[in-house]
Amino acid sequence: MEFILIIGVIFILLVLLSFVWPPDSPWAPWWRTSKEVARKICKLSKVGSSDIIYDLGSGDGTALIVAAKEFGATGVGIEIDPGRAFISKMLVAKNKVSRKVRIERKNFFDVNLSDASVIFLYLVPKTLEKLIPKFRKELKKGTKIVSYRYKMDLELIGNSEDLYLYTI
Ligand SMILES: C[S@@+](CC[C@H](N)C(=O)[O-])C[C@H]1O[C@@H](n2cnc3c(N)ncnc32)[C@H](O)[C@@H]1O
Repeated sequence: MEFILIIGVIFILLVLLSFVWPPDSPWAPWWRTSKEVARKICKLSKVGSSDIIYDLGSGDGTALIVAAKEFGATGVGIEIDPGRAFISKMLVAKNKVSRKVRIERKNFFDVNLSDASVIFLYLVPKTLEKLIPKFRKELKKGTKIVSYRYKMDLELIGNSEDLYLYTI
């Protein structure tokens, strides 16, 4: 009985803590993009069938699934957390977009981004700042970058609510 109580208390503490962990920590499952926001991201960045989207820290893959299913885009999700990478692969298959969306369980700092035409980001400012030199080095001129919730020190070309559209 005591054991079950201790497990229960630990579980509740973990759930509470996960609300305050940084959004790009693998321990923060509640920070995610809804389908509705994913649609807004696609509209703001004018995603179409010729686009190759990289979602850096792709979570459960929702944004890429929406981009592929509803806008015809090709997607590459880079996710460091094995649990989320696995779940997103299942969801990609369930949504029948496996031909369009690929999920890689990797650290996005180790992935070359040169074939991206659009980048989706939902990461904390410190990580966004660290990505800027990589973007300047690897991205083609004109590549669009959409950051959800957090601003970046790049050329802003559009904005809608808490979505920020940049180009490089
Ligand atoms: C706030 S969540 C956003 C998930 C998804 N993009 C969304 O909007 O629903 C950030 C994700 O980034 C992942 N992440 C953080 N650092 C990473 C890294 N260096 N490489 C790959 N994924 C990373 C986390 O595991 C987490 O799933």
